[in-house]
Amino acid sequence: MNPIIILGIESSCDDTSAAVLRDGVMLSNVIANQSVHAKFGGVVPELASRAHQQNIIPTVQEALRQADIDKKQLSAVAFTRGPGLLGSLLVGTSFAKGFAQALGIPIIDVNHLQAHVLAHFIRKDENDNSPQPQFPFLCLLVSGGNSQIVLVKAYNDMTVVGQTIDDAAGEAFDKCAKVMGLPYPGGPHIDRLAKEGNPNTFRLNKPQIEGYNYSFSGLKTSFLYLLRDKMKENSNFIEENLNDLCASLQATVIDILMDKLKKAAKDYNIHQIALAGGVSANSALRQAFNDLATIDGYEVFIPPFAFTTDNAAMIAMTGYFKYLDHDFCSFDEVPFARVSNTF
Ligand code: KG4
Repeated sequence: MNPIIILGIESSCDDTSAAVLRDGVMLSNVIANQSVHAKFGGVVPELASRAHQQNIIPTVQEALRQADIDKKQLSAVAFTRGPGLLGSLLVGTSFAKGFAQALGIPIIDVNHLQAHVLAHFIRKDENDNSPQPQFPFLCLLVSGGNSQIVLVKAYNDMTVVGQTIDDAAGEAFDKCAKVMGLPYPGGPHIDRLAKEGNPNTFRLNKPQIEGYNYSFSGLKTSFLYLLRDKMKENSNFIEENLNDLCASLQATVIDILMDKLKKAAKDYNIHQIALAGGVSANSALRQAFNDLATIDGYEVFIPPFAFTTDNAAMIAMTGYFKYLDHDFCSFDEVPFARVSNTF
């Protein structure tokens, strides 16, 4: 049987990425980051779309070159259809349509969040036999735009059982980092500084939300008020307490995430738990997942760093599963910006 070779395209936010997978094995995964946003303290949608336009062709060329694949060998082009920034998604979608049309091959639309979950099934190379989650499992999907608990019943059958009703966990990290004067994105800086701090120094509000949903806006406000009150007494308060502030904030965010996740695992009687999304790079969250395994007895799956942030390998992986189901999309389909509850 001919191998199934998928080109994946990701352009939902501020990273332009292209990847090639052959039968679920990664041949290349190229990511062009957009440094233009750093000085604005967050992603500027208009600038992101323009940068995608500049990056997309060289990124795809490089992915094909690294994979040593000629475009005529491709079976299909998979692209992120949403959720994300509409102007950014339009660049990847339009490219995928034009490229596939010219080659006479099908296109496959991919839900970005489903792809984060399915990143667990990418084989990094032919010799990669790392254990993969078995269905059903729960996935904690935490990024700059989303915080969700997903019940994964099959590759193509996932339900969001809990999600944030306001800010995402990564957004909470980034916004709190910003008020402490740390660069964007603040999550990795908080992670680094927290290692030198005491997580029990400051008590921050935990939200009381029904079910498995999350809320991080109250925590953000309580952090802001803490800084404001303490700064009245000591204008150097942030500099003098930076490590302890980061450690306390990080510990609270992780407690909030893990409390709901454990509740969902117990209620749904699930024994396998996976982690996904950019915030899963956080060392304390990874430690909390290791504790889930060693203390609570769950089987846990933590993705390699390269597959935690936005990448096209996960888009190509999802495209591969959809290809096996002959689940192609029409050339009339348009991107969507908003999150849905099933995917
Ligand atoms: O999935 P992702 O790459 O893309 C978006 O959703 O935009 O996630 C980016 C988010 C940012 O909020 C960033 O601050 C956060 O992931 N992040 C981290 C760490 N590394 C990235 N948050 C905490 N600790 C980290 N080590």
